[in-house]
Amino acid sequence: MAIPKLILILKRLYDTFSLKLRIQLYRAMGVKIGDSCFISAKAYIDKTKPEFIEIGNNCMITRGCMILCHSDAKLGGLKRLWGAREYKKVRLGNNVFLGVETTVMPGVKIGDNVVVGAKSLVTADIPPNSLAFGIPAKRVKPLKDFLKK
Ligand SMILES: CC(C)(COP(=O)(O)OP(=O)(O)OC[C@H]1O[C@@H](n2cnc3c(N)ncnc32)[C@H](O)[C@@H]1OP(=O)(O)O)[C@@H](O)C(=O)NCCC(=O)NCCS
Repeated sequence: MAIPKLILILKRLYDTFSLKLRIQLYRAMGVKIGDSCFISAKAYIDKTKPEFIEIGNNCMITRGCMILCHSDAKLGGLKRLWGAREYKKVRLGNNVFLGVETTVMPGVKIGDNVVVGAKSLVTADIPPNSLAFGIPAKRVKPLKDFLKK
């Protein structure tokens, strides 16, 4: 067997194993993650309150995505001059795809069957069965229209 082919097989095995391990670790921390999900090794899932993050079945969280459930914006720096860290729950439904480098802000709910375009900033809820993208991300069209294009 040619060496490049062997390397490719080993890489695939490694990718599959590390994905499963990554998801198990997130679950062990308290993140709720459904079945058949892909979470890129280069994605960031907020670990400050893992139990505040829920990801449904069959979701794809691609490279560079961030799912946030906290903000230190009202803290007043390390001296905590003004307030406290804020936490808000985030929920992704089933069959949600997040394009590369998308950020989901604290408090957001994304419905079932949603595609979010690359480099989006999701600041508000996205209804189910939608294609959405942009900064801030908005529903652009029903998912069925996107799929039949
Ligand atoms: C959102 C997306 C699914 C839309 O695909 P599409 O319907 O084929 O969109 P089109 O390429 O026909 O573009 C339609 C319009 O939306 C704009 N657009 C497309 N994706 C956009 C995005 N992520 N952010 C902002 N605008 C976007 C296009 O510029 C175009 O604008 P125009 O009508 O003014 O020219 C796709 O662009 C995308 O982001 N895919 C994810 C890619 C990715 O993350 N891949 C890596 C992981 S697998």
